[in-house]
Amino acid sequence: MVVEKQVSLQAHNTFGIVAKAHELVRIASQEDLQAVLADAQLRSKPKFVLGGGSNIVLTGDVKALVLKVEIKGRRLLTQTPRAWLVEANAGENWHDLVAWTLAQGWPGLENLALIPGTVGASVVQNIGAYGVELQDRFDSLDAMDLQTGQLFTLDAAQCAFGYRDSVFKHAPADGPGGMRGMGLAGRALILRVRFALPRPWRAVLGYADLQRRMAAEGTDAADLSPQRLFDWICEIRRAKLPDPAVIGNAGSFFKNPTVSPDQCEDIIARDPKVVHYPMPDGSIKLAAGWLIDACGWKGKSVGHAGVYEKQALVLVNRGGRENPCTGGEVMTLAKAIQTSVYERFGIRLEPEPVVI
Ligand code: EPU
Repeated sequence: MVVEKQVSLQAHNTFGIVAKAHELVRIASQEDLQAVLADAQLRSKPKFVLGGGSNIVLTGDVKALVLKVEIKGRRLLTQTPRAWLVEANAGENWHDLVAWTLAQGWPGLENLALIPGTVGASVVQNIGAYGVELQDRFDSLDAMDLQTGQLFTLDAAQCAFGYRDSVFKHAPADGPGGMRGMGLAGRALILRVRFALPRPWRAVLGYADLQRRMAAEGTDAADLSPQRLFDWICEIRRAKLPDPAVIGNAGSFFKNPTVSPDQCEDIIARDPKVVHYPMPDGSIKLAAGWLIDACGWKGKSVGHAGVYEKQALVLVNRGGRENPCTGGEVMTLAKAIQTSVYERFGIRLEPEPVVI
């Protein structure tokens, strides 16, 4: 086991922010993690688990011991009349997994194509796009307790998935949905994840962008192949969202807020064009991108942090690798956006990435 010191994290966060890890260990196997936990010096240190760094904002150097998850491997465990059960190790690239399962003839993840990050992080964040969330395809996972070294398995209910939320996003004293003492952030490392891809495959086409595409191409749902749907998703994302390899970013910066029908009526009375969607529980989800756009933020900047021109929900690094934005600039911009959306609409936007 090698403990790397003063490691630059610039290449390990998709914003491309400059920051260092005081100490970093690469975890390429379960045994690597066991070695860290058996080490007298490292065992008791606070730890930070890093995947692809696609959903973090670094506001300074990381003092906790960084565990960089690089465990590779993926396999079909079993195939039943109802599902393909696929297992992937946490360090696998998410998009590569989507493309690989499709190529193997086990579709079901195509709506989640091109989402940056790793398999482990996909669970933490309960990634979602175009009508599918990770929890819809999740079976179970194996993780290791970073204090006791104990291996444990969680099913979907135990992960307490919510909108861009899970038990892994909450501090140990906290917990999702009021589950006090149930948070696993910094407390556990996800080793491998199992996905149940339903058979027979059925395209998920409810999302407006996909409906428009179907109509434009005159395609019938019955004739649509998983590969074609995958290609559409990739095209739609590329048209709207910046590729982090070209322009640093962490995807959507805020969650789409939910409001009561009364609050929504108030907003509609003032801004009839507000984009809103009724939710199954009776609440109304508002498009945060629309709210930010309506406040005139598209294209604005604070230092080298900016609001993406084509999607106001995405904050970007305009300085590239040479003159990158700082985490402080990103957060100043984010706070200014929150204030202006609050003043105009009375809505508090909640950031989606983890701020460190
Ligand atoms: N809109 C604007 N102006 C903008 C941005 C959006 O008017 O600047 C409007 C759009 O025209 C559309 C609506 O707002 O009517 C929603 O926009 P979009 O379809 O782009 O989706 P979103 O709600 O902004 C969410 C996810 C994305 C996911 C897409 C597709 C969140 C926080 N974001 O974005 O996820 O890819 O839907 O399902 O839920 C991510 O989490 O990092 C992410 C990219």
